[in-house]
Amino acid sequence: MQIRRLESSERAVAESVFRSGFARQLRYEDPEKFSPGYSLLGRFVGEPEGCFGGFIDGQLVAVAFCSSFGSIGVFGPAAVKPDLWGGGIGQRLLQTAIDYFHSQGIAKIGLTTFPDSPKHVGMYHKLGFYPRNLIAMMVKQIDKEMESKNPPPFRKFSELTSDEMEGAFKSFTMITDTIYEGMHFCRQVGVVGGLGIGETLMIDDGTSLVGFALCHFGDGAETETGVCQVKQAAVLPSPKASNHFAVLLEACSAYAKEKGATKLLFGLNAGRRAAFDQTLSSNCRIDSLGVAMHRPDEPFADRRDVYVIDDWR
Ligand SMILES: CC(C)(COP(=O)(O)OP(=O)(O)OC[C@H]1O[C@@H](n2cnc3c(N)ncnc32)[C@H](O)[C@@H]1OP(=O)(O)O)[C@@H](O)C(=O)NCCC(=O)NCCS
Repeated sequence: MQIRRLESSERAVAESVFRSGFARQLRYEDPEKFSPGYSLLGRFVGEPEGCFGGFIDGQLVAVAFCSSFGSIGVFGPAAVKPDLWGGGIGQRLLQTAIDYFHSQGIAKIGLTTFPDSPKHVGMYHKLGFYPRNLIAMMVKQIDKEMESKNPPPFRKFSELTSDEMEGAFKSFTMITDTIYEGMHFCRQVGVVGGLGIGETLMIDDGTSLVGFALCHFGDGAETETGVCQVKQAAVLPSPKASNHFAVLLEACSAYAKEKGATKLLFGLNAGRRAAFDQTLSSNCRIDSLGVAMHRPDEPFADRRDVYVIDDWR
């Protein structure tokens, strides 16, 4: 098998390999029914050098995507065609991703996988990853009841002037860097804005920006049709961070409602205890669970007091 960087012209076939792998894993009879509308477009545009394919006799049989969040590298999604499972292809893709991140100067690598799959946890462990916290995929229904509520004040990144955008990028970096040195989501904000596959929402405390959330929605987004997914979000650490996090999530719900979404979805690392407690005591439920695995085996931005959403799937 040959592994090489995928071309953007190979996106449709890559999405089909992705769907066939996950549909089999999650026992969908029809791969097209798995996550309808979910697109890998943003991966090809945002980090084309991190999109890899495995080929046998010229046919694409496996895919793996790498995302750099500044100092943290995230592996996934990755999938191998089901008829080839167990033949060592998954490990080769993972090693390719590790080498890729190292070539970018990134030594901290994370991924989210199925906590109840011995194969997944075992395979990742074989290449140096350790299971750490659970990741709760939180879901909030966006319903009519919200109509009566006034949304909190928030700004949209797409409505800023170019000078304001530059200032916003500096604030985003300052916030995430305060939480975990070198971590940032600027590349991802740029992709969502550039492709119009959602919106980055911002809240302030009356003086400066204190939180932002990157919401995916619509054609080309990394989310199912009708679902607004918060892929990354962060709140500046402060005694008011809990309030700001609540406001930020309300802003996301208001945006989801404005777009006609039926659900708001976001992945929350259970190690972020305060955010986890707060979210479950608001009207969010857990949709599914993943487990974060880290290489090396050390905490990243998953401390108890940290208000961050960073969907690693
Ligand atoms: C996950 C996936 C990419 C793995 O690809 P693969 O080519 O089947 O994996 P490999 O053959 O390289 O590795 C399988 C490894 O699992 C590990 N494994 C399997 N069962 C295990 C068990 N019970 N205990 C411990 N380790 C186990 C072994 O290390 C095994 O490799 P080895 O036999 O060579 O030691 C593939 O199954 C897939 O596409 N699944 C659907 C999509 C998906 O789940 N993607 C990943 C989401 S995080």
